[in-house]
Amino acid sequence: SIASEQSWGSRIGLVLAMAGNAVGFGNFLRFPVQAIENGGGAFIIPYLVCLVLLGLPLLLIEWSTGRFGGKFSYHSSPFIMFKVGQKPIWAYVGVFGIFSNLVILSFYTYMESWTLAYIYHSLNGSFSSMNQEGVANFFMSYLEVSTTSTGIPFESIVFFLLCLGLNIWILSRGIQKGVELAAKIGMPILVLFGIILAYKAISLKAGVAGAVYDGIEGLNFLWTPQYDTIWNPKVWLAAAGQIFFTLSVGMGAIMAYASFVKPKEDIAGGAMAAGFMNEFVEVVLGGSILIPIAIGYFGVDKILEITRSGSLGLAFQTLPFLFSKWGPVLSVLGGTLFFGLLFFAGITSTLAMGTSIINFLRDEFKYNQHKAAIILGILILVLGLPSIFYFKEGVFGEYDYWGGTIALVVFAMFESILFAWGFGLKRGWAEITEGADVNLPRIFIPIIKYVTPLMLIVIFVAATIRPVNDDWSLKNIGNWNFHNESIIGKIAHKGIGPNNRYFSDTYYAESPGVV
Ligand code: PHE
Ligand code: NA
Repeated sequence: SIASEQSWGSRIGLVLAMAGNAVGFGNFLRFPVQAIENGGGAFIIPYLVCLVLLGLPLLLIEWSTGRFGGKFSYHSSPFIMFKVGQKPIWAYVGVFGIFSNLVILSFYTYMESWTLAYIYHSLNGSFSSMNQEGVANFFMSYLEVSTTSTGIPFESIVFFLLCLGLNIWILSRGIQKGVELAAKIGMPILVLFGIILAYKAISLKAGVAGAVYDGIEGLNFLWTPQYDTIWNPKVWLAAAGQIFFTLSVGMGAIMAYASFVKPKEDIAGGAMAAGFMNEFVEVVLGGSILIPIAIGYFGVDKILEITRSGSLGLAFQTLPFLFSKWGPVLSVLGGTLFFGLLFFAGITSTLAMGTSIINFLRDEFKYNQHKAAIILGILILVLGLPSIFYFKEGVFGEYDYWGGTIALVVFAMFESILFAWGFGLKRGWAEITEGADVNLPRIFIPIIKYVTPLMLIVIFVAATIRPVNDDWSLKNIGNWNFHNESIIGKIAHKGIGPNNRYFSDTYYAESPGVV
């Protein structure tokens, strides 16, 4: 079995790998945009509430069920949940997790490959000769696949294959020599780069290097509580969605890692350490880079407009240009640090998603690590290419919607019900606290038993049926649609038709300070 064959080499390695699993693009790209779109200070309260009532409980559930499954040599969500629930139906629920991992991994690997390309172009100085429009167009031409403005043929495919190959190579080396080693190298570098960039962003001064506002204005925007929008369901759904995505819960990726934890090793402490590391990187570092820079250069209103026209534009169409305002050395450094940080954030997450699929292939077909890694590579190639070639048509966004939003909630809802009511919280709490070095507050018992499953059911219903344009004041039920956020949903309702909420063709950000 793979249980005896693989395990984490050290406690610090385990915690770094779990933190690396959680820390990803979600922390640096998704969180700032979610916070901006949901009113800054209005977002942070629901966000923290969801962290305690959903995020931490789900972390505890996934860590403990994962270690539990490992005792029986099961390492993937379908097998682990079958062992926990003792009925075949739970294996099918676990398959939702594999589905999410596959689908998210496909577009996530593509994004990760952009960061490689952007590191290359930052070091190469490609961006320093471009104006704002040039940088924005570079990204658009990059996404066209065949025509890149820097003359590398099929550049996006080249970097995608490079990135996928690197992931598969690391994964084929197994847990200790592959995943754990990568986290031990990547995570410290990521935190170092993050601190440097956060310092630069916060110390941005109005009137210097094209900035129109102080960077600190961005922090004020995020950290000034606003109580008026707190009862808006849209903000709560966004906060819950962000907590899921950022903590990597709801898809069995944590279960897969936890299944390699030794039977009596502390998981309560591990879950808290990795979870809080992710939160530090998200709200402290993630909240102090993109938001201060964006607001420093554009102000709140303009930034709202930019993020509405596609949430990726800020990082990939604007930042390289803003860095070039920092002078020749800092512009190369800024770009390299920022996209380098994104790369390490990304790869430690793709390794986690990859591991959970590899573990499934091994559990199910008894492949060895090497063979399972190769098959994973082929799967991601096949699923990744449509999101590359049909990016603008919205395939990428569609993957994110079904894999990264809906399936996550379904999986989380069932896993929390299974744990609290199927497995039973008496045994469950014993599993969570076995070997624990920390004293977990017992308030988590009623939370896990009642609050978390109930909230998940409500979120599932609300995420599935949403009012048009997220206008929750609409009373007419005719204006409520199933899945109207997705293309499939829109076509079914003869809605507005395909669109792409990540990317807009007309994107071109102008700032009073930087033209
Ligand atoms: N948590 C990662 C992020 O914040 C995304 C992720 C989800 C990674 C699920 C692994 C598994 O970007
Ligand atoms: Na994260």
